Amino acid sequence: MHLSLAYGALALLPQLSHAHFLFPHLMLNGVKTEAYEYVREHDNGFQPSFTPEILSSDDFRCNKGSWNHRSQPKTAKVTAGKDSVGFHLHLDFGIYHPGPVTIYLSKAPGDVRDYDGSGDWFKVYQLGTMMPWNGTDQGWLTRDLKQFEFKLPSEIPAGQYLMRIEQMSIHQPYRQKEMYFQCAHLDIASDYNGKTPGPTIKFPGGYQPNDPAIQLDSWAQPPPDFAPMPGPEQWPN
Ligand SMILES: *[C@@H]1O[C@H](CO)[C@@H](O)[C@H](O)[C@H]1NC(C)=O
Repeated sequence: MHLSLAYGALALLPQLSHAHFLFPHLMLNGVKTEAYEYVREHDNGFQPSFTPEILSSDDFRCNKGSWNHRSQPKTAKVTAGKDSVGFHLHLDFGIYHPGPVTIYLSKAPGDVRDYDGSGDWFKVYQLGTMMPWNGTDQGWLTRDLKQFEFKLPSEIPAGQYLMRIEQMSIHQPYRQKEMYFQCAHLDIASDYNGKTPGPTIKFPGGYQPNDPAIQLDSWAQPPPDFAPMPGPEQWPN
């Protein structure tokens, strides 16, 4: 299996260089909104960002150049505990690299169009492997999916938020990972006033090169049977 993967990966290289993942469409209650209608564009094109460098960069928030596009998207009005939100990939691409998808929220101090994502982030969605996992690419539940959507939990305070999706590609024959990530703008209505969502992390800083999720080696022999998720526990917990 690993030999054929190696050949497959080599054969794909020219194509991969211009065909990686963007998440330009916000999903809103099962409807794919227009490209960049609610999603902050970035200037990184189809390029992956690589560990470990990206883990210590401010670009790890909403991607390189996204600040230049902060006033272009609209802010989607949604209600905690009622509406479903998420992301849809560009064109009709599916996720063809193995690896987890995670979605985080970070509350803006005011208008999300003025917010750079330097505050606290909590995780609201994650999708990893089948359990148990046989260590193959086929065991990733994210495989070939074009969209990731979930119901907003009720336990989110009202306010404007950046919502950040991330796919971590683990297909390299070593422990370096490719990261694809992008942010949308949400205005969340809610009457929740309980405990502050957490645990929270910052971008950068919340992921470290030695995290088990980053260190996962999918080419190891025997194959791994567990794929740790990146980032903290999901909220609510
Ligand atoms: C691993 O699991 C996947 C998903 O069930 C399956 O498609 C694949 O054939 C399995 N591969 C091996 C080598 O067991």
